[in-house]
Amino acid sequence: MKNRICELLDIRYPIIEGGLAYVGNGALAAAVSNGGGFGVVGSAGRSPEDFREQIRLAAKLTDKPFGVNLPISEHSNQEPYIQAILDHAQQLKAVSISAGNPKPLIPLFQEAGLKVMVYIASVKHAKKAEQLGADLVIAEGFEAGGHNSPLELTLFALIPQVSQAVNIPVVAAGGIANGRGMAAAMMLGAEGIQMGTRFVATRECQAHDNYKKLLVDATDDSTLVMARSIGNVFRVARSPFAEKVVEYEKTGPTVQELLPYIKGSNNRIAAIEGKMQEGWVNCGQSAGMIESIESAADIVQKVAKEAIDVLNTTRLHFNL
Ligand SMILES: Cc1cc2nc3c(=O)[nH]c(=O)nc-3n(C[C@H](O)[C@H](O)[C@H](O)COP(=O)(O)O)c2cc1C
Repeated sequence: MKNRICELLDIRYPIIEGGLAYVGNGALAAAVSNGGGFGVVGSAGRSPEDFREQIRLAAKLTDKPFGVNLPISEHSNQEPYIQAILDHAQQLKAVSISAGNPKPLIPLFQEAGLKVMVYIASVKHAKKAEQLGADLVIAEGFEAGGHNSPLELTLFALIPQVSQAVNIPVVAAGGIANGRGMAAAMMLGAEGIQMGTRFVATRECQAHDNYKKLLVDATDDSTLVMARSIGNVFRVARSPFAEKVVEYEKTGPTVQELLPYIKGSNNRIAAIEGKMQEGWVNCGQSAGMIESIESAADIVQKVAKEAIDVLNTTRLHFNL
């Protein structure tokens, strides 16, 4: 596989690890990159010091390119995270930016020698990111785990429209966990994929074993959307806790009233400490396809190989 994304990020397979907040640790990013994909260290929910430490750890564990994720609105003060990225620019290849206006950050990071990848969930925002000079866009569909766009566009409709609207490469994110999904995304016009949920169920991810087990046991209907009542879309694993939150939302709480349920510490307690009854965890619809906990490097290689096989056999189905 050799295309614009491989060239831009200097990687073997156009498979990117999504920003995964505090379960996106340095060891996981390094493993994704060692497998030939593009590992990404998460910053959301991490202290600036921990963020720096995870970048240094990833750099120690791989000599392959990797990057970081900066979800703008997740940080009440972005400055220390921006500074950490600039201070480590020599070790990094790219930054993925989500959840906010990337305008001032694109030139800042590019001047530091980094490629900039911008999350979008509509044609309008893809065009805007291209105009602002983004190197590629990550088009994230409503299937994705975590914080999604309230537009709720599914990947199958989003990718063809975005790829037609912009000239920069498009990465498909949301609902992909195997090579079949990767092949389909490429046929829709994407030049690469990003996976989040699949990389949580790996040996290297710092998520609690209870979280990983939940992903392995998940089925097609194992997710639900929280916080829609206040204009947000958090796709999380279906659990008694998450179902209770959605039930409460039906009573019409204000943002302030809902906050104690959806706050980040309720995620951390489940995702990191494994207390699944006391919090919620991010989970994409792709979880139903996860069958085992593997090494992230093996996953990258398996997904790439399967995508190639699927594309070849598809040609046979059509007698091409
Ligand atoms: C556990 C988890 C944490 C996430 N945290 C972030 C984050 O901090 N920043 C971000 O931009 N996206 C985040 N996302 C979204 C992912 O980067 C990615 O786009 C998404 O997971 C892709 O969909 P999938 O889960 O179906 O693979 C998160 C997703 C998950 C599952």
